[in-house]
Amino acid sequence: MVLALKCRLKDANRIKKELREKGIYNKDYRMQTDVNFAYLPIRKKTAKKGCSVVQKRLKKIERITTLADVLKNKLSKEELTFLPSAYDVVGEIAILEIKPEIKSKEKIIAQALLKLHKNIKTVVKKADSHAGEFRLQKHKHLAGKRQKTTIHKENGVRLKLDIDKVYFSVRLGTERMRIAQKVKKGENVLVMFSGCAPYPLVIAKNSKPGLVVGIEKNKDGHRFALENLKLNKDLTNVELILGDVKKIMPKLKRKFDRICMPLPMSAEDFLDSALKAAKKGTVIHFYDFLEEKDIPKKAIEKIKTHVKKAKILDVVKCGQFSPKTYRICVDFKIL
Ligand SMILES: C[S@@+](CC[C@H](N)C(=O)[O-])C[C@H]1O[C@@H](n2cnc3c(N)ncnc32)[C@H](O)[C@@H]1O
Repeated sequence: MVLALKCRLKDANRIKKELREKGIYNKDYRMQTDVNFAYLPIRKKTAKKGCSVVQKRLKKIERITTLADVLKNKLSKEELTFLPSAYDVVGEIAILEIKPEIKSKEKIIAQALLKLHKNIKTVVKKADSHAGEFRLQKHKHLAGKRQKTTIHKENGVRLKLDIDKVYFSVRLGTERMRIAQKVKKGENVLVMFSGCAPYPLVIAKNSKPGLVVGIEKNKDGHRFALENLKLNKDLTNVELILGDVKKIMPKLKRKFDRICMPLPMSAEDFLDSALKAAKKGTVIHFYDFLEEKDIPKKAIEKIKTHVKKAKILDVVKCGQFSPKTYRICVDFKIL
């Protein structure tokens, strides 16, 4: 039995609207009607002319909002506890991490995800971890349309990419915006390791740089970067270069006001290259993977090994690599 407001049938819709506006309507239950009256579920007693508050048996509304809701009859109680609590969505593709305990149910889980979110057209699972020079990761198709290429929207830009052929993490969207917001009008920015160009494009879209240059060694990554520049037609002050940072930097013959180094696995190996394009006052965003106990000491040690005079401006945690290891960014200025 739940609390309900009994009113004349002809007044039901008007009163329901009023109750909703006041936050009194109880959305967990279904309204019931008979020949003359309507019974509106309410959260607390309320006085209304011509109405009375009664106790009524009303139907509960079953809401399906989580994977566990959809799968409660298909997975055992124990299996439900292994369901992923979060997953990445790149454009139309959802990327799951499936625990070994529920591997046999992975296709059912993927179908459930398609049912839950109409904007997801494909479900894949991570088949390995990011590896190699290009930091690539393979994915296995589980359900929906067979596609690995999709268009992802982030911070006002559109990014086309193949999730198997180029590194891209949706989780870095906030970090990319943080950097973009630091860029001052007219600044020249270099993005080493630019991938399919999320940093260059987000910076160009959300600040007023002079020029943004991106360098990427992975041919597929660079191909998508060029395509993305075309996709975001309004962004004209972006230049994208295919090649190895170490070989390109000496040829650049240009100094930058800001340099991003989003290659946490081995950014230290490229600090000397970055310095070639830096001048007094240049701000460098240096990424690293560190355990909590080493933040920021170890990253600062790496910087100090290569840079004689630097002022540390900020240290931010911008992701988690493994249970104990974080992705961090040290912002520092060349003095
Ligand atoms: C961690 S990913 C970051 C990609 C991109 N900035 C993003 O946020 O999605 C690092 C990128 O650096 C590229 N890379 C690795 N070594 C490189 C090198 N020596 N020169 C240029 N790019 C390199 C990889 O192919 C990869 O796309």
